[in-house]
Amino acid sequence: MKIGTVSLASPLVVAPMAGMTDTAFRRLVKRHGGCGLVVTEMVSSEGLVRGIDRTLEYAEYTEEERPVSIQIFGGDPEKMAAAAQVVESMGADIVDVNMGCPVPKIAKHNAGCSLMREPAHAATVIAAMTKAVKIPVTVKMRAGWNDGDRNAPTLARMAQDAGAAAIAVHGRTAEQSYSGAADWDLVARIARDLTIPVFGSGDCIEPEQIIERMRTGVPGVLVGRGVLRNPWILAQAADLAAGRAPRTVTLEDRGQFLLEYIELLLNERIDEARAVSHDRWVVNKLRALGSWYTKGLENGSHLRTAINSAESLQKVRDTIATFFTAEGAISAV
Ligand SMILES: Cc1cc2nc3c(=O)[nH]c(=O)nc-3n(C[C@H](O)[C@H](O)[C@H](O)COP(=O)(O)O)c2cc1C
Repeated sequence: MKIGTVSLASPLVVAPMAGMTDTAFRRLVKRHGGCGLVVTEMVSSEGLVRGIDRTLEYAEYTEEERPVSIQIFGGDPEKMAAAAQVVESMGADIVDVNMGCPVPKIAKHNAGCSLMREPAHAATVIAAMTKAVKIPVTVKMRAGWNDGDRNAPTLARMAQDAGAAAIAVHGRTAEQSYSGAADWDLVARIARDLTIPVFGSGDCIEPEQIIERMRTGVPGVLVGRGVLRNPWILAQAADLAAGRAPRTVTLEDRGQFLLEYIELLLNERIDEARAVSHDRWVVNKLRALGSWYTKGLENGSHLRTAINSAESLQKVRDTIATFFTAEGAISAV
């Protein structure tokens, strides 16, 4: 699989998730295998162009994550082109445009999914970016703004014509937010219609679902919440694709992942102005991941509550270490 000139070892991707897919998390997922591309959390085009510290921090990545795509949001063609140049100068492999975010704070600025309501303008944004940089420009969109306007097939075609090197489609409308189910038939239809690679996104919780989606003719899959619940899901899907049984993940493996995440976060450069302390910031990060990671886990709600009420980072570590030993899991029953 290739996106423009960038080769992906696997068509399985960690979907961008604001607040969640930081460089530490992406590195750990990548180390477990099966992952062909990682995408940063969305970053503001305005912030990139103005060199705002916090924006640059969100766009940070490490060499071991390559190939890396930096996702930007905004609605002004010139600013988006300038931001794409910043992304290119940061050494990223791909720049991705967010046309899927339904959050009013983003959408009301003519960015995110509201760009889908103005396809001609959206195409101008993409064309300005592809002209400004040599790295591939990709677009992530939803099925449309609402049920009356499911225009992803049209916009995807326009994006391709404007020079986009790949498209990702989350098969829900902005109005749906996360309700209902992602429409993978729509994704497959778009994939059939375009010559560039099309990635689908939505509701892959089990590795088998990823393989089933690809069998419908969708060349690649972005997995979001499924990776937060099970960071091994891409590796397990790759096992299935290779005709092997999906690897087993033990309770200890799951605990180890969280402990390693803590260590990587502690080594991260953070904007001290927005955190009471580095430890506190790490605790908050663990709480955010914990709310997803504990889903579907036996006694997961116990762990979630324990992490949320732990008053120090050491307490979070102890809670994890205890829970993820066989004895800890049994005593939580
Ligand atoms: C917490 C969270 C944050 C997200 N942030 C972004 C984002 O920054 N950019 C984006 O394009 N999509 C974002 N998404 C959407 C996901 O990339 C993905 O398309 C969507 O969650 C559906 O896939 P899933 O069912 O595998 O999670 C976010 C989703 C979640 C749950």
